[in-house]
Amino acid sequence: MLKTIFITGASTGIGKLTAIYFVEKGWNVAATMRSPEKGKDLEKFKNIKILKLDVMDDESIKLAIAETIQFFGGIDVVFNNAGYALVGAFEAMSKEHIKKQFDTNVFGVMNVTRAILPYFREKKNGVIITTSSMGGLITFPLYSSYHGTKWAIEGFMESLHYELRPFNIKIKNIEPGAIKTDFENAIEFVTNDVYKNYVPKAHQNMLDSYKSAPTAEVVAKKVFQAANDNSFRLRYPVGGQSPILLFLRRVLPNTWFFAIVRTVVEKGIKK
Ligand SMILES: NC(=O)c1ccc[n+]([C@@H]2O[C@H](COP(=O)([O-])OP(=O)(O)OC[C@H]3O[C@@H](n4cnc5c(N)ncnc54)[C@H](OP(=O)(O)O)[C@@H]3O)[C@@H](O)[C@H]2O)c1
Repeated sequence: MLKTIFITGASTGIGKLTAIYFVEKGWNVAATMRSPEKGKDLEKFKNIKILKLDVMDDESIKLAIAETIQFFGGIDVVFNNAGYALVGAFEAMSKEHIKKQFDTNVFGVMNVTRAILPYFREKKNGVIITTSSMGGLITFPLYSSYHGTKWAIEGFMESLHYELRPFNIKIKNIEPGAIKTDFENAIEFVTNDVYKNYVPKAHQNMLDSYKSAPTAEVVAKKVFQAANDNSFRLRYPVGGQSPILLFLRRVLPNTWFFAIVRTVVEKGIKK
C-alpha cells in the first residue's frame, strides 16, 4: 500500500512543492488548504486529494483527517506547514496582529497535532513534521513576533518528542533558511514613524537575503528525507544559510553572533 502524507498550507510555496515532490515519489498526498480553488493545478495528479482546512478551525481539521483516512486508507505522515510572518516594529503591532500570528503559527500547529495524535497513538506509528525555521533557534531584527512563534514551536515539539516516543510517534522539525516562495508576499509588514530610520532599511536588507535563496524544492527534499528517516532525529536544517548560521550560533559567544547579524541586517543604517 502507498504511504500517505497530510500537508497543511499546500496552496503555495513549500507546501505545494512538497505535495508534488511526494506524489512524484509514489506517495498519496492529502493537500489541504484554506481555499481549495487555489489547488487547481494539483488536480491533475491522480494521487493528490485536495481538502479544505484552516488550521484555526478544529472542525475543518477533524473532517480533513477523516476524509483522508477514508479516501487513502490511512495517514503515515502529517506535515504542519501553514504559516506566515508578521514583520516590523513590535511597538506598531496590535494585539490582534500578534494573536493572529500565534493562532496560525503556534496554535494552528497544536490544533492539527492534537487532532492526529489519537490516530497515530492507536496504530503505534506516525511521523509529525513541522516547518519551523532557522528563525526558531536564532533571531533577526523585525521578526520578534514571528520568532516568538517559531521558538515556541521548537520548544513545544522538543518536549513532545519525549512523551510520544513510547508510542513510536516521531517528531521532526524542518528548519529552512531563506527560501524563495510566496512567503515574501505573505509577509504582513507593520511599522510606524518612530522607527523610520531603522525599520525600512533593515527590512530591505532582510529581503535582499532572499535574492540568492534556493527554491522550495530543497525543503521538499528535506521533508522527504525526514519522512523516511526511521530514527528519532528531531532537527533538519535546510537551505544555504540555515546549517551554517545554526552552527555559528552553537559555537560562537552570543555577542559575536549578534555582531554578525547586525553587520548584515543593519548595513546602511546611520548609527
Ligand atoms: N519561505 C521562507 O523563507 C521560509 C523560511 C523558513 C520557514 N518558512 C515557513 O514555511 C512555511 C510555509 O511558508 P512558505 O514560504 O511556503 O510561504 P507561502 O507560500 O506563503 O505559504 C504559506 C501557506 O500557509 C497557508 N496558510 C496561512 N494561514 C493559514 C491558515 N490559517 N490555515 C491554513 N493554511 C494557512 C497559506 O494559505 P493561503 O494560500 O490560504 O494563504 C499558504 O498555503 C511557513 O510555516 C513559514 O513560516 C518559510
